[in-house]
Amino acid sequence: TVGRSTNIKWHECPIGKLERQSLLGQKGCIVWITGLSGSGKSTLACALSRELYCRGRLSYVLDGDNLRHGLNSDLGFKQEDRAENIRRIGEVAKLFADAGVICIASLISPYRRDRDACRASLSEGTFIEVFMDMPLELCEARDVKGLYKLARVGNIKGFTGIDDPYEAPLNCEFIVSDCNTAEGWGMPFPSAMA
Ligand code: PPS
Repeated sequence: TVGRSTNIKWHECPIGKLERQSLLGQKGCIVWITGLSGSGKSTLACALSRELYCRGRLSYVLDGDNLRHGLNSDLGFKQEDRAENIRRIGEVAKLFADAGVICIASLISPYRRDRDACRASLSEGTFIEVFMDMPLELCEARDVKGLYKLARVGNIKGFTGIDDPYEAPLNCEFIVSDCNTAEGWGMPFPSAMA
C-alpha cells in the first residue's frame, strides 16, 4: 500500500550477534522500566546504568522524556501516539540489544498491550520488565516537575494517572516498591546481565 515499505529485503551482515557479544563479553538485553510520571524510572535507569558501568558492562539509557526531544518529537500523548512512542523505542532498544548492549528503556508505557508486543517480538529472557510500583498519591505528593498540579487544574489534559490510564504489568520480572531513597533500590541483577 502507499505509505508503507514494500519490495524490501533483509540484508544479513557477515558479522553476527555472537561475534559482537564475544567482543563485548556480554549479551545484549532490554531492561524496560515502566511506571507513573515521578515514580523514579529515570533515576533507577541512571543508577542501574552507573552500577553496570562499575561492573564493566556496557549499557545505554533510552529515556521517554529525552527521546521526545528528537526521535519522537512529532508525538503527543494520545493513546495512538503513546503506542507509536513505545513501538519506536522498542525498535531502537532491539537494535541496541542486538548490538550487544544492555539497553535500559525508561518510559511510562502505560498500555500493557504495547509493552507485551515488544516482549513478544524478542527471544525469551531478552525483555526484562521492571514495574515502578509507586502509588499515585506519592508521585503526586512529590510532583518533581509540577505536572500533576497542572493536570489537576486542567492545564494538562490526558495526564497519566489523573485522566489517562496506567495499566500495571501482570507478569513482570521485577517490581520496585518502597523506593523513597536510592538506597531502596537494592535490586538483584537478572542472569541475562551477569
Ligand atoms: S509514554 O506514555 O510512555 O508515551 O510517555 P513518555 O514518553 O515516558 O513521556 C512521559 C513524560 O512526558 C511528560 N508528560 C506527560 N506524561 C504523562 N502524561 C502526559 N499527558 C504528559 N505530558 C507531558 C512527563 O514529564 C513524563 O516524564 P516522566 O519522566 O514520566 O515524569
